[in-house]
Amino acid sequence: MDVLKLVDIPGLMSRPERLFLAAAAVEAGTNAGGGTILEAGSGYGSSAAVMRLAAPSAVIHTIDMNDVLSPAILDRTQVLFHEGSARDFRLAHPELAADFLFIDADHSFAGVLTDYAELFSLLRPGGLLGFHDVCFEHYGVKLFGDALTRGGHLTGAVQVDTLRLGRLAKPGLPDLGIFLETLREHAGLFDRSEHMRHEQARSAGHLGLGLPSADEVREGYVIGKGEMGKAFAGYFGLPRERLLHSWEVRDVSATYFLCSHETTKIMQYLTSMGLPESRVRVVSDHCLSWLYRQDLLESRGERLASLFADPLTQDIVRQGLGGLSDWEKESIHRSGFLHLFITRLGYPG
Ligand SMILES: C[S@@+](CC[C@H](N)C(=O)[O-])C[C@H]1O[C@@H](n2cnc3c(N)ncnc32)[C@H](O)[C@@H]1O
Repeated sequence: MDVLKLVDIPGLMSRPERLFLAAAAVEAGTNAGGGTILEAGSGYGSSAAVMRLAAPSAVIHTIDMNDVLSPAILDRTQVLFHEGSARDFRLAHPELAADFLFIDADHSFAGVLTDYAELFSLLRPGGLLGFHDVCFEHYGVKLFGDALTRGGHLTGAVQVDTLRLGRLAKPGLPDLGIFLETLREHAGLFDRSEHMRHEQARSAGHLGLGLPSADEVREGYVIGKGEMGKAFAGYFGLPRERLLHSWEVRDVSATYFLCSHETTKIMQYLTSMGLPESRVRVVSDHCLSWLYRQDLLESRGERLASLFADPLTQDIVRQGLGGLSDWEKESIHRSGFLHLFITRLGYPG
């Protein structure tokens, strides 16, 4: 293996992560028949290129719903690329017994859960199991990875930067109680209160006397079709056609809820187009979190839970967040954890 070439393959992983991934591929590649590696989430092919270099005789299957493999990074003849979902792959290869399963595809909680649930049966018992981006920034992956570790499904786990590798000791999924314990532990650990204080100051000026009522929102429009706009519109059950890009604003007498982190630039654009500043109310992360907090305090997260499609996620919201004490609900709001939790869980918008 050319270790100097390996660390310089362009990609999203840190150098220590590549070296750790390469070491896992070497282990898998020394198994009978050259070993078999299964990757969910090929991207441009850089993690597959690292594994290819480290384990020249292994069979590498890599799955992605989009074919974006880059010839500059990986020669596609060197791996078996499968365009589609984890389920498509499992149905087509039910007999596979991989030595290493590496999951780095959809980073929402529902996404990583689905990939694992579809693919763990294709990993031989005791085989290496890895996840990339196990960190609070990718909270869905962190909650899932930590619950697998806590539940004893993933044993001997070692993490290098955000790459966690361990062995599949217990196939299947952790039960709900494990997810709830993991969530409770995270809620106590997480602290981004500085950031939230800044957000609070930013929204206070624009929202003036507090949060909009559901009726006000239903009569208005949301500007911003990104994650924030979808979250705000989803929370109030606004139909898709009420979500606008800033250049789609026409009616200067309507009320607009600006959901974006580019507030100043968009405000300038809107006023230059003749929309009075008084028609626009800025929605910040803090404001969204405040809405979620209210739902938790008033109805134990019923509205929040109903926004998720997957039943396990709904239970985690209802029982995990809804079951916290009022003081804990307040504290996860202030620390920023509540906002992070909801946006990273796979909120459909
Ligand atoms: C972070 S990138 C993968 C990076 C790659 N492992 C690397 O390190 O070079 C995530 C990839 O997962 C794919 N993806 C997202 N959701 C998916 C899903 N449900 N099934 C399969 N692939 C998915 C995306 O198309 C994207 O290419």
